Amino acid sequence: MRILVIGDVIGRPGRQAIRKLLPDLRQQYRIEMVIANAENLAGGLGTTPTTADELLECGVDVLTSGNHIWAHKEILPYLDNNAMPIIRPYNYPPGVPGRGYIIKDNVAVINLMGRTFISNFDCPFRTSDQLLTELGDEPPIKIVDFHAEATSEKVALGWYLDGRVSAVLGTHTHVGTIDSRVLPGGTAYVTDIGMTGPMDSVIGDDIEDVLQRFLTMIPNRLNVGKGKVIFTAMLLDINNKNGKAKSIERIYQEVEEE
Ligand SMILES: [Fe+2]
Repeated sequence: MRILVIGDVIGRPGRQAIRKLLPDLRQQYRIEMVIANAENLAGGLGTTPTTADELLECGVDVLTSGNHIWAHKEILPYLDNNAMPIIRPYNYPPGVPGRGYIIKDNVAVINLMGRTFISNFDCPFRTSDQLLTELGDEPPIKIVDFHAEATSEKVALGWYLDGRVSAVLGTHTHVGTIDSRVLPGGTAYVTDIGMTGPMDSVIGDDIEDVLQRFLTMIPNRLNVGKGKVIFTAMLLDINNKNGKAKSIERIYQEVEEE
C-alpha cells in the first residue's frame, strides 16, 4: 500500500499548496491514502472545522495533530464524533476530548506527543506499548505521527517501535531531516517530515515577527509567512500483509503563492 504522509501544514499557504499539488501527486505515485498533520492549519495555530474540511476535500484521508489542537474550541466536538477523521495525541491524560488513533481503510493511524522540551504528557513509550497490545495484529499497517521536539526522543521511539509498527514519522519542528530510512525490523522512520508552508519564514511564521520576539522577548503575535511555499511529505510503500515498510521517500516541491 502506498501512503503519503504530509508534515505540519501551515495556514492558508500550506492549504493552498496541498490543493494545487495533491490531486496530481495521488495519480502520479498511485497513492492510496494520505495523512496530514493539521495542528497549524488555521492561521498557523490550531485547526477549525472549515480549514480541516478544506484538506479533506483535496484528498487528505486522515488528519493528525499535536499540542496546538486545542487552540480553536470549534474543533473540539469533531474530535469526539465520527464526522471527521481527525485525531489528537494518544498520550494525553484520560478523559481529554478526542481519540489518539483511528483505523481507516485498514490502516491504524496513531498520534503521539514527545515530552522532552515540551510538557509532561504520559510516557509515549509505555503508552504505545499499551496501545499496540490493545490493537494486536490488526490492522497490520500502523502509522505513528510522533509530534515531538527533541531529535533524540524521536530517534529513540523509532528504535523502540521498530518491527512493531509500519512507520514512525516525526512532526512539530517543521524542518525536514535527512535521515529517512527503513529500520532493520521494517519500520519506516524519519526524525521530521518537514512542513508544508512558506519557504522564506521562520518555521512557517513571518521572519520579522519572529525576529522581534527574539530581540525583545515580548510575546508578540506571529503571522504566517508569505511568498513561495514548500510542500514536504514522505511516501511510504508498505506490505499489506505483514505491515512492514518496503521504502520511504521524500516528496518535495516548491510552489508559487496564489
Ligand atoms: Fe506542535
